Amino acid sequence: MSRHENADRNALEARMARLEERLDERLDALMTRLDEVEALVARVERVVNRRAREQQDTLRHLEYEPVAEMVAALQLLPRLGVSTGNTAVGPTGVSTGTTGVSTGGTTPPLPAVGGWAIEPSGLLAVVHAVQTRRPQLVVECGSGTSTVWLGRVLAEQGGRLISLEHDEGWATHARAMLAEHGVAEGVGQTVEIRVVPLVDVDVTWPADSPAEGGALPEVGENAPGDGEAASPAGPPLRWYDPAALGDLTGIDLLLVDGPPKATGPHARYPALPLLADRLAVDAVIFADDVERPDEAATVDAWCAQWPQLRRGTAPSRRMAVLHRQVQQR
Ligand SMILES: C[S@@+](CC[C@H](N)C(=O)[O-])C[C@H]1O[C@@H](n2cnc3c(N)ncnc32)[C@H](O)[C@@H]1O
Repeated sequence: MSRHENADRNALEARMARLEERLDERLDALMTRLDEVEALVARVERVVNRRAREQQDTLRHLEYEPVAEMVAALQLLPRLGVSTGNTAVGPTGVSTGTTGVSTGGTTPPLPAVGGWAIEPSGLLAVVHAVQTRRPQLVVECGSGTSTVWLGRVLAEQGGRLISLEHDEGWATHARAMLAEHGVAEGVGQTVEIRVVPLVDVDVTWPADSPAEGGALPEVGENAPGDGEAASPAGPPLRWYDPAALGDLTGIDLLLVDGPPKATGPHARYPALPLLADRLAVDAVIFADDVERPDEAATVDAWCAQWPQLRRGTAPSRRMAVLHRQVQQR
């Protein structure tokens, strides 16, 4: 072999060695990527399976939910003095004749439950708690239909409802509904709709709370997945301005149905961090919309943080009930 041929051959071999090296590197990168994809597929599979189980659960509920809600509505109406037959009784059981409602035959229909408003089953549970526990102070986060229904019960039996509302326009609408139904509204009245703006509060979402909904991560992204811890605590959350809530002490019943979720993530979580020390020793808390992952995680986070809270029997899959246990001495 000539010197030239030898040099060519060496160059070729060197080039082949470099190519082999690059091929190995590419293969390594490909294998790493494959591992990532496999891990992602496994994670997606877990999330999809969990979602499928949840959907099956939802479908099972849907089969009887409309019936259950109708039964709840039928049980709810007489408690508010609304007739479901020829005669009506007031919430206190006193007959109101054939007028339909205890406050007179011309009283407009009660605002519809469901949709943005609490479902009949949840409202029935809250009304039942109000009628049996006879709370002196009820605080509601988020006004609407529930304000009118609870206002009607409290107007009959005594006690006050302070309803926190961030939306001035919605407060005007809710006040008009209360006026239509003859429920006194204002400071010191049966119901006070307190317009309180949402502000950044000194509360952050707890870092070790479960992530909402098990969001699907991108390849290579270290997003929290099925059963993993959420990212560290985020920025302060927005809630009703605590400066406007200084007088709320001894809350016997707290209904958390606002702010709406569109106002930000974990919108309802600050309720307990900011009101826990304002609750009466035997207070009861109702949290609506817990079929939504964020609201469910909120209730879980409260229970993790306040071990003295005990879950009561949920009236529906949408409403959670928590009892503040009286400390045994
Ligand atoms: C879930 S709603 C509260 C509903 C109330 N507790 C009830 O049972 O009717 C939470 C907030 O959504 C807003 N909201 C209530 N009803 C609404 C409606 N029909 N359309 C748009 N916003 C509404 C109000 O600002 C309210 O504070």
